[in-house]
Amino acid sequence: MDVTVTLTVNGVERTVTTDPQRPLLDVLREDQHLTGTKYGCGEGRCGACTVLMDGKPVRSCVTPMSLAGKKSITTIEGLAKGGSLHPIQEAFLEEGAMQCGYCTSGMILSAAALLQDKPSPTDEEIIAGMNGNICRCNGYVKIVNAVRRAAGKMRR
Ligand code: FES
Ligand code: FES
Repeated sequence: MDVTVTLTVNGVERTVTTDPQRPLLDVLREDQHLTGTKYGCGEGRCGACTVLMDGKPVRSCVTPMSLAGKKSITTIEGLAKGGSLHPIQEAFLEEGAMQCGYCTSGMILSAAALLQDKPSPTDEEIIAGMNGNICRCNGYVKIVNAVRRAAGKMRR
């Protein structure tokens, strides 16, 4: 039986009536048309679908809507403010930390959560913090460089 769930997505309150087991990812992409969040493995193993839920990274492909009620969700579309990219987005562009770009939204949201917890991470902490986000294009060196650069930007 469908349930009605109210959640906040990128600062805007949304009410969704849906199957409580339906993945948050499907609601974001299909109902809210926020297609920046990607479907990769669908099993919680690749990180392509990462969004922030109350500031914590979650795999939206395995997060049922029954857990999303009253939560604040941030997707890649919610990071830029006032027409300016978020410093992490800028850093990924400046470091060329993407090839096909399929993993990039999830990488950036994971980096946002990491840098919230650790504003001055070592490279080892960046690698550990991003562990679980898979880049099929093997762009890991540039991704670590981008997160390091983003940390510097955000401290300034
Ligand atoms: S699509 Fe969600 S973790 Fe891979
Ligand atoms: S840039 Fe292609 S999967 Fe990461």
